[in-house]
Amino acid sequence: MKRLLFIGDIVGEAGVAHLEERLPWLITYYQVDFVVANAENLGLDPQAPGRCGMTPDLNQRLFATGVDLLTGGNHSWDGPYGQAVHAHPQVIRPLNCPGTPGRGAAIISKGGMHLGVVNLISPLLVPDARDPYRTLEEQLTSWDGQVDGVIVDFHGESVTEKQSFAHAVAGRVLAVLGTHTHVQTLDTQILAGRTAYVSDVGMTGPSGGVQGYAPDFFVNFIRYHHPQGTPFMVACGQVEIGAVLVSFDMRGAHAIQRVR
Ligand SMILES: [Fe+2]
Ligand SMILES: [Fe+2]
Repeated sequence: MKRLLFIGDIVGEAGVAHLEERLPWLITYYQVDFVVANAENLGLDPQAPGRCGMTPDLNQRLFATGVDLLTGGNHSWDGPYGQAVHAHPQVIRPLNCPGTPGRGAAIISKGGMHLGVVNLISPLLVPDARDPYRTLEEQLTSWDGQVDGVIVDFHGESVTEKQSFAHAVAGRVLAVLGTHTHVQTLDTQILAGRTAYVSDVGMTGPSGGVQGYAPDFFVNFIRYHHPQGTPFMVACGQVEIGAVLVSFDMRGAHAIQRVR
């Protein structure tokens, strides 16, 4: 049996620093073989409040602490390093956004197992994204015989959409793990065909704000459609980890549990 720790959207340097403290222990405690993390919210773009993205330095700190692969979402390309970070072989962005920097799928080979990871984004969130169903099927066909199993990071807002996608591809992949809302859901389950599922893995970042950010910016932006001069910054609360642990073998997923 192998174990994957999938870490939900990491927010800011605070989230990275917290993982530097805790991730080595989590890997040992849960006997983790593979670590994948969504990293679309690592940075803060000073020129564009509300935009995030990754940075080479923070990405490297995550790799150094045990993360095998970083996934993304609608913020993948934000910030000054949007192009540079996607040249790294351990960074992927949504596969169904062709024509953008980077690639949308990667294989992690460890301990004699080849685990394929596919990042997809909801067309409800990014209207010009390609059909995620067809995109996944094409990737599975191109990987035929090269991987022992595939996990999908499905980045989207709608629970209905994520659950429907998971049922549609159940039995074809080891796991469909939702990201983007930053709020961990309780619906961890093993679907027919041994596919693990959760609507959202949650967030790894400061609590007490709005999705890991200081609330004032969002309060004004949502209410007045303008930040009213309030800064876009990460929240100040205690850092929480939102993750799931998926146990699997060549036959499929056997268990999924929330880690918080
Ligand atoms: Fe997102
Ligand atoms: Fe996010």
